[in-house]
Amino acid sequence: MDFYSIRGGNPLSGEVEIAGAKNAALPILAASIMTNETVTVENVPDVSDIRAILSAIEHIGAIVERVDRHTYRINGSQIKDEPVDDEAVKKIRGSYYLIGSLLGKYKRAEVTLPKGCDIGLRPIDQHVKGFRALGAQIRIEHGMIVAQAKDLSGSHVYLDVVSVGATINIMMAASMARGMTIIENAAKEPHVVDLANFLNSMGAQIKGAGTDIIRVRGVQRLHSTEYSIIPDQIEAGTYMFAAAATHGDVTIHNVIPKHLESLTAKLEEIGCEVETSDDAVRVVANRRLQSTHVKTLPYPGFPTDMQPQITVVLGLSEGTSIITESIFESRFKYVDELIRMGAQIKVEGNTAIVSGVREYTGTSIVAPDLRAGAALVIASLAAEGYSEVHDIKYIQRGYEDFPEKLRALGADIRILDSDDPEVKSRSQIHLVS
Ligand code: EPZ
Repeated sequence: MDFYSIRGGNPLSGEVEIAGAKNAALPILAASIMTNETVTVENVPDVSDIRAILSAIEHIGAIVERVDRHTYRINGSQIKDEPVDDEAVKKIRGSYYLIGSLLGKYKRAEVTLPKGCDIGLRPIDQHVKGFRALGAQIRIEHGMIVAQAKDLSGSHVYLDVVSVGATINIMMAASMARGMTIIENAAKEPHVVDLANFLNSMGAQIKGAGTDIIRVRGVQRLHSTEYSIIPDQIEAGTYMFAAAATHGDVTIHNVIPKHLESLTAKLEEIGCEVETSDDAVRVVANRRLQSTHVKTLPYPGFPTDMQPQITVVLGLSEGTSIITESIFESRFKYVDELIRMGAQIKVEGNTAIVSGVREYTGTSIVAPDLRAGAALVIASLAAEGYSEVHDIKYIQRGYEDFPEKLRALGADIRILDSDDPEVKSRSQIHLVS
């Protein structure tokens, strides 16, 4: 089993290039089969969640051609009417985007219920509400969601909670419904806008993405397009906070600075210098950082996907910080691991009270999910001594070339295999199984 072996203490310094956004690529690849013409998608990140969605669409008959590492040509004209339930797709949350795309195009979809990262209850009632409003019948049987409609008709959908997934799924199905759909209380995340732009480039008529009211006028068919996915806001943010935690100086290229505003504001508030240019952001941390309070909120608020990373930084900052997680209720599971590294954090319900310490010390830790895993890597890079981060399969779901990019910034991080006898005999930490 692969793990990261990290010797902490090196300030990160240099330049890093950000990949395409995983959470935009997932729905865009799912939507790419909504036309019978060939679609070219560029800037697709090379991460395991993306490989899973590509395998799922291939499994039901899409022709997927890899043009280069980040570019795919996809043709969905030969899709077969069969359930989407291959092993890879069961593990990813984004698989549910195939309900919206298949229902929109074929008026029928049968997709395995999604799992994804274990960060709390992840209901799909708002997706179901939206599909039903468009005229679909929804059943859940044998672990599958079965959606079908004679015809989809535009409707008015008010989301009871701001949901990225439901907004995206309803937008996809509504793109090929008859008439106008209005989604109120819609999510405004950059990846919602990116999917709307992608669908519009295929001939869809979507207005208002990026605001809380989205209007979708359905069209009968969509056509081919060439589209490049936006940069990953959360990957960029992860390097910004890695620079802060290690007292580094890192310039992050291929970003949209507007998408990073809530992160930039917090970094400046705690004492980092942040310089922004057209498509890059530089973070310099040359003194002890200060405490602050954070509450996660839908975009443009502070993203829940950056909550573990900022907690790691505040754990090393002077004073007491309060972090409130308002999106997912079980997103503090990593705190126990951080405490084993010397952090002083008390979690009460959806709030973490963090008393900053001067340093973390390395140990063997386990990544509980994707973003928390990345945060524990940041903690290990900042820590005194040697750490091992296990269960890196979660991190590999969403970060392309994570150890390679960190190494280029001066980090001492390697991937080792715990089953390798030489690694076992040299292990510096007694692993608790
Ligand atoms: C997306 O998940 C992202 N995943 C998550 O990123 C991200 O944390 C989340 O949005 C919030 O920004 C993907 O894009 C694949 P939601 P999603 O629907 O769509 C409640 C990562 O690390 N809700 O916006 O599943 C829900 O319980 C992942 O990349 C309902 O009540 O999130 C939550 O409290 C982790 N009913 C809130 O809404 C529903 O039908 C927001 O969830 C749907 C959601």
